[in-house]
Amino acid sequence: MVDAALRTEAAGYSPAQKWLHWLHAAMILTLIPVGIAMSGADPSPTVNAMYELHKSFGLTVFVLAVLRVAFRVAHGAPAYPADMPEMQRRAAHAVHWLLYVLIVVTPVLGFVGTSMCCKPVNLFWTVPVPFGFEGAEATVKIVFVLHKIAAISLAVLVIGHIGAALFHAVVRRDGIFQRMLPGR
Ligand code: HEM
Ligand code: HEM
Repeated sequence: MVDAALRTEAAGYSPAQKWLHWLHAAMILTLIPVGIAMSGADPSPTVNAMYELHKSFGLTVFVLAVLRVAFRVAHGAPAYPADMPEMQRRAAHAVHWLLYVLIVVTPVLGFVGTSMCCKPVNLFWTVPVPFGFEGAEATVKIVFVLHKIAAISLAVLVIGHIGAALFHAVVRRDGIFQRMLPGR
């Protein structure tokens, strides 16, 4: 039943799916360089602010990702063009679902690590986030290494994904790029 839901074909992406896609793209393309910059920097008020923003936007990515997966399962996605080779369809399908997994797992790992080492976290300096995880320093290190691995895997997949999107837009010109644009 789940497998059938994952394959549901729709006439096009819903406006919510499109807006969430581009919101995620903007946030994730910022979170990755900010994450790398802040974790290699000496403490300062600016670096502290980077941490607060990273955690707040990271948690926002998580909430929107759960929403987005729900939309995807409920609404489905448009079919690929009939002339798209089977291998490319399979690759696109696999990359898309891996992206969905990583936009959920990456923030969860950041959340768990932060919960163990550095509570409390106040969402955008205001709403306190309940953190329930405990862990020794060695565990915290492992969780943040996993957070880094997940984030780097996400970055690598996103680079491939952008390459594929541009390939469809510029070389194949098959409408795949346009169908993710709001208003189309
Ligand atoms: C999709 C969402 C997220 C992405 C793409 C992301 C990405 C990254 C990246 C690339 C780093 C640098 C890793 C390194 O060089 O060591 C990092 C570090 C970090 N992230 Fe995230 N992150 C996300 C969500 C979160 C969330 C939700 C939290 C906490 C609530 C969080 C907390 C942290 C912390 C505390 C560090 C520093 C770890 C350290 O210094 O070892 N991140 N993140
Ligand atoms: C940076 C974070 C990004 C993430 C996490 C992401 C994730 C995804 C996911 C999961 C899908 C599949 C939607 C579905 O079929 O359910 C998708 C589709 C798509 N993405 Fe992204 N994306 C990102 C950035 C981008 C960027 C920067 C571009 C453009 C340069 C782009 C262009 C597209 C296009 C054109 C589609 C539609 C593909 C199709 O209909 O088969 N994405 N994206």
